[in-house]
Amino acid sequence: MSTARPIRPTDAAVIAAQSQEDVVVGNEIVRHNRASRLIHWAAAITFFVCLFTGMPIWAPVFGWMAHLFGGLSVCRVIHPWAGLAFFAASIVMFVQWLGDMRLEPSERKEWLTGGRAMQYLRYETDDANVGKYNGGQKLQFWLVSLAALGLLLSGLMMWFPSAFPRLLMELAYLVHDLTFILFAMLIVFHIYLGTVAEPGTFGSMTRGTVTRAWARLHHPRWYREVTGEESRRS
Ligand code: HEM
Repeated sequence: MSTARPIRPTDAAVIAAQSQEDVVVGNEIVRHNRASRLIHWAAAITFFVCLFTGMPIWAPVFGWMAHLFGGLSVCRVIHPWAGLAFFAASIVMFVQWLGDMRLEPSERKEWLTGGRAMQYLRYETDDANVGKYNGGQKLQFWLVSLAALGLLLSGLMMWFPSAFPRLLMELAYLVHDLTFILFAMLIVFHIYLGTVAEPGTFGSMTRGTVTRAWARLHHPRWYREVTGEESRRS
C-alpha cells in the first residue's frame, strides 16, 4: 500500500515547496525546498556512481558492476570525476544545512553517550523537544561531511600516486577503503530510516512536504515552531 501523494504542479503545497521551507500549507508542512532536494539528489546520484564504479576497481567479485558503465577501464576514468562532483554536491549541502545541524548540549550527551540511538531504533523515544532534525540526524550530517572530505583527500592522492611517498599511498588506500565501506553501510541505514522505518519521510525529498501528523510525531518542537501552536496554547 502506498501513501505517496502525486506531485501536481498546480498543487498549493508543491508550489510553496519550490522556494519556501518550514511553512504550513493545509495539512502539509514544507520540509525541504526545491534547491535542498536537488542538491540532496545530486549528492545521492554521484555517491552511487562513485560506489558502483569504485567497487569493481576494489575487488574482482564486483566486476559485474563495471558492465553498467562499459567496462573497468571506463570506471577508472569516470570514478575520480564523479568523486569530484560528489564532493562539490556535498559542500553545497554542507553549507545549506549547517545552520540546522549544531548539536545542542543535551543532544550531545544523549546521542553520544546516553544510549539514545538504541532507544530511537526501538521506537522508545518520546522527546517533545526534538527540533527539525534529531541528534542522530545531526551526527550523521557531521559523519558524512567528514567522510566526504576523507574520500576526497585520499582519492586525490590515489589519482596522482607518483606525487606521494609509498607509505602515505598505503594510508590513502586504507582511508579510502574503510571510509567507503562505513559510508555505504550508513547510507543503507539512511535509506531504511527514510522509507520503511518511518513512512511519510520519503515525500519530504520528492514532493518536499510532510503531513502535520508526521511532524508532530517525529519532530514535535519543529511542528510547534512552524505551526505556532505553542504560542496559541500559552
Ligand atoms: C570524493 C572524491 C573521490 C575521488 C577524487 C576518488 C578517487 C579515486 C581514485 C583515483 C581511485 C583509484 C582508481 C584506480 O585505481 O584506478 C579510487 C578508488 C576507489 N574509490 Fe574513490 N574517489 C572519490 C570518492 C569515492 C566515493 C564517494 C566512493 C564510494 C562511495 C569511492 C569508492 C572507491 C572505491 C571502492 C575504490 C577502489 C579502492 C581500492 O582499489 O582499494 N570513492 N577513488
